[in-house]
Amino acid sequence: MSSIKDTFGRTLRDLRISVTNRCNFRCSYCMPVEIFKHDYPYLKKDQLLSFEEIVRLSRLFVSHCGTKKIRLTGGEPLLRTDLPQLIKWLSDIPEVEDLSLTTNGWHLSRMADDLRAAGLMRVTVSLDALDNTVFGKINGVGRPVEPVLKGIDAAIEVGLPIKVNMLVIRGVNEDQILPMTHYFKERNICLRFIEFMDVGNCNKWSIDQVVSGKEILELLKKDFLFESLNPAYKGEVAKNYRFMDSGTEFGLITSVTQPFCKNCNRLRLSADGKLFLCLFAITGHDLKEPLRQGATDKELVDLIKGTWNLRKDRYSELRKETNRDKGSRPKIEMSYIGG
Ligand code: GTP
Ligand code: 5AD
Ligand code: SF4
Ligand code: SF4
Repeated sequence: MSSIKDTFGRTLRDLRISVTNRCNFRCSYCMPVEIFKHDYPYLKKDQLLSFEEIVRLSRLFVSHCGTKKIRLTGGEPLLRTDLPQLIKWLSDIPEVEDLSLTTNGWHLSRMADDLRAAGLMRVTVSLDALDNTVFGKINGVGRPVEPVLKGIDAAIEVGLPIKVNMLVIRGVNEDQILPMTHYFKERNICLRFIEFMDVGNCNKWSIDQVVSGKEILELLKKDFLFESLNPAYKGEVAKNYRFMDSGTEFGLITSVTQPFCKNCNRLRLSADGKLFLCLFAITGHDLKEPLRQGATDKELVDLIKGTWNLRKDRYSELRKETNRDKGSRPKIEMSYIGG
């Protein structure tokens, strides 16, 4: 299988496909309620790639561009109630080694069975707190935790391997680190702590709000014994650890204090068919127009390869040099290209 390289010799391995830029939550760090109102210019149905278009592109990525792993993201991907159909088609592509989904878990208990039956291999649930008051404040719409926990249980029941992502923000939810660790350790679920990043234009990020991976490790050391693990593959985003007693794993995603651009092998496809070479990119490279204008498979593959070959993005490394959000340049919202 052919792999393609960018200007730093990084290969394209992971494709992250956003299927909608809408969400039923309004997390303060992602879609603050004051900005993401009814009149926000959400993508309209005809702007979205159809599932057939997504599957055609995915086949080309997998068979001609070295992609091995596909993750479906949003906004909230489970708002597309017909998502199992897309998953079925993607799981029918033989070379896809890993097919996963990132969700806020709200609709998971209802959909877990269909997602699993369609061929989803695993799921990652974003959950930043166990305390209802803290969680309701973060999700911006006062939603309680329990339906998300039920969603996680439902996924486990149908045999879907689960990870939980917890974004930690100073002054907001660092008191939830220990309760979250105990809860998920007891259930043998991998919890990953994520450093708060300066993605998008509206979360008013500052370095003071970043709880570093190092600080989190220091806190965990007081209550737990654990050992560090080697990366499962080159370019793995999380640094993983294992609790000595239970064997449960947990991870740290330290994109602010220890950026991992050097091995970044990720490409994002927005719900309206644009390729983004970096989470912090300003513009995307449109595939929808060529798709709809009748481009051949070869033309589409050449377009994808040409885009990746010119890639020189390394935003988090550049930001690390100053620890400042890199200026007032507009950035793409996380809810538009997925996490
Ligand atoms: P696994 O395949 O289960 O290991 O997950 P993953 O490594 O694909 O990570 P996931 O999709 O769960 O991403 C978790 C979080 O890491 C995201 O929500 C982002 O906050 C951060 N992240 C993921 N990819 C990137 C990236 O390419 N750059 C930066 N800066 N952060 C990333
Ligand atoms: N920094 C780090 N992670 C973020 N996410 C959203 N916004 C940010 C940010 N500013 C993560 C969420 C969720 C995933 C979809 O993206 O925590 O796990
Ligand atoms: Fe929705 Fe996820 Fe963004 Fe929260 S972080 S608003 S759940 S897309
Ligand atoms: Fe990749 Fe950009 Fe994230 Fe660096 S900042 S790891 S280049 S997506």
